[in-house]
Amino acid sequence: MNDDNVYLNGEFLPLQEARISVMDRGFLFGDSIYEVIPAYTGRLFRLPHHLERLNNSLHGIRMQNPMSDGEWSSMLERLVAQNPQQDQSVYLQVTRGAAGRRDHAIPDALDATVFAMAAPLYDPDPALARDGTSAITLDDIRWRLCNIKSTALLANVLLKQQAKDSGAIESILIRDGNAMEGAASNLFIVSAGELITPPKSNFLLPGITRDLILELAVKHGLTHSERNITEAELRSADEIWLTSSTKEIMPVTTLDHTQVGSGTPGPVYQQMSQLYADYKERIKQGLEQ
Ligand code: PDD
Repeated sequence: MNDDNVYLNGEFLPLQEARISVMDRGFLFGDSIYEVIPAYTGRLFRLPHHLERLNNSLHGIRMQNPMSDGEWSSMLERLVAQNPQQDQSVYLQVTRGAAGRRDHAIPDALDATVFAMAAPLYDPDPALARDGTSAITLDDIRWRLCNIKSTALLANVLLKQQAKDSGAIESILIRDGNAMEGAASNLFIVSAGELITPPKSNFLLPGITRDLILELAVKHGLTHSERNITEAELRSADEIWLTSSTKEIMPVTTLDHTQVGSGTPGPVYQQMSQLYADYKERIKQGLEQ
């Protein structure tokens, strides 16, 4: 973070001055949801999609949205307008708020805590596109409501750390014999020329980047499908990618210390990363949202 202001409950103020109660249910129970939204040269990337997912997450934890879409837009736009020339990643969090006492059951009337901050966002390292990166597979130990973008991320934290411990960048999570997604990213494979990603369900986060990649695949006529990816298919894939708003498309060239496909980022990745870069450029020029 730099000296910019953050947003907390209706106010813009320095990060050091932003305070919440220790009774906040976000702190006590992880009773809260979040979004991460890139902003390219001051333009929020696919904001309507992020606000729709925010609404779905709130609905999933039985909360009303404390702000209208218009209020979200103007608050977030004001946040990123502090650094209009810089690409930024906006983090926002809504907790159920602070009650007088600690009780798992949901209290009746609470004011939500709403927090947002922006941090610099840098283009992916070009070495990634050249060499790819490594991932490991792990048992998906998370709960069954992974479609909710909850801040209760302890399982994801431990899974990501296990990847880091073994020198990999991400863990690909296996549930009931199928590869679902990464600890903080969605999963695509290319097999026999077909681009495949698991269908949306309560076992994975409906990624905004994932949806954009599918949109680009449709628009540019790439053979693709949304279907389950078995662990065996993952291991024999020609290409593996992991996607997220902040990391964009990461080609995985080593899985569990074994080479993926040809061992370098594949041709379908090259094509899609160019389409993605073109789309981003159009956003920067205000030609697309
Ligand atoms: N994480 N799956 C999980 C479990 C994630 O945490 C994320 C993103 C994604 C990709 O979603 P999107 O394309 O909307 O970024 C998939 C964010 C970036 C994070 O937790 O910081």
